[in-house]
Amino acid sequence: MTAQTIDPALAAAAAAATAAGHAPVMPGEAVGALLDGASDDLLAGVWLDGTMGAGGYARAILARIAPHGGRLIALDRDETAHAAAAGWAAAWGDALRLVDGAFSALDEHAGGPLSGVVLDIGVSSMQIDQDLRGFSFMRDGPLDMRMAAHGPTAADLIATAGEEELAAILFHYGEERASRRIARTLVAERAIAPIASTARLARIVASCLPRPKPGQINPATRSFQALRIAVNDELGELVRGLCAAERALTPGGRLSVVTFHSLEDRIVKRFIQMRSDDAPTGSRHAPVAKGPSPTFSRLTRKAITASADEIAGNSRARSAHLRAAIRSAAPADPRDPMTREVLRALGAPDIPALQAPLLRIAG
Ligand SMILES: C[S@@+](CC[C@H](N)C(=O)[O-])C[C@H]1O[C@@H](n2cnc3c(N)ncnc32)[C@H](O)[C@@H]1O
Repeated sequence: MTAQTIDPALAAAAAAATAAGHAPVMPGEAVGALLDGASDDLLAGVWLDGTMGAGGYARAILARIAPHGGRLIALDRDETAHAAAAGWAAAWGDALRLVDGAFSALDEHAGGPLSGVVLDIGVSSMQIDQDLRGFSFMRDGPLDMRMAAHGPTAADLIATAGEEELAAILFHYGEERASRRIARTLVAERAIAPIASTARLARIVASCLPRPKPGQINPATRSFQALRIAVNDELGELVRGLCAAERALTPGGRLSVVTFHSLEDRIVKRFIQMRSDDAPTGSRHAPVAKGPSPTFSRLTRKAITASADEIAGNSRARSAHLRAAIRSAAPADPRDPMTREVLRALGAPDIPALQAPLLRIAG
């Protein structure tokens, strides 16, 4: 693990959250898609979990690869995940290497070929359940929302973004239909006093929307999700992470990705489709130019979703989609994925006026 100082309060909160239990979503399916049918050579190789969280997937992978001499790199950009890993990681000795970093650079973190990559995108209960992290409208705390301990917070974003930019974030990343009204109110409210707490943000958002009927979600849900996605550049991370996996995976290696949001699922679906041997060829009138040789073949034709039993026990599983693919021997596509053309093809929202921390568009 990269040396770092972990705030004792965060470490204690992470330990408590782990004890309370982050239930991994579709662990059998996600790890099965990664490992079932893998050759002995692959099993003995190096695997990477790009979103370690509470280590549910990581431990399941280790249990299957360690007997074959396989090793796992477990990555997370949140120091509390690393603090929580102190409780279980040592038992795996040299079979496990913990890395504090983002999965967009997973090939650089790995430093060599990988047998498989699993990504379980989004936030963990360890993050949501800590008031100090500012992810939840259910808990009052500082309006932070960062997974890593650096970069602008949600409070910074709200304080500095233009009204149009805020509206675009809320609309595209949260599918919030009242995005313009909320953005206008945020700009008016921040002129009175900085919007620095989750409770104040939740009150402002609620004031812009009709009172929810019984059974409807909290009106702040969409806005909190949108700001979290923007603060953590989650879509940019995903696009870069998929390309990094393409660069790092050895022929026959597996990619298994679980998403919780339709925007993310669309990106994963289209990425695998574009890179696979059954990519759409277009019509006679509008043929799609043939790209480089396919780098993946699909393992899942339709996304796998959680069973009714799992959803009954863990409501987070409701929106989960799992897609998986096998790497071919063709060279990785060397082109920069962060161009408007590629992002459009992947179905990522096209918000050209926007700057970092949103999708950073190179051209
Ligand atoms: C849903 S949880 C993963 C849970 C995990 N599969 C388990 O079994 O416990 C997602 C984790 O991924 C981390 N994460 C999200 N985006 C990341 C990124 N771009 N790079 C590295 N870690 C990331 C979050 O900090 C969080 O801990």
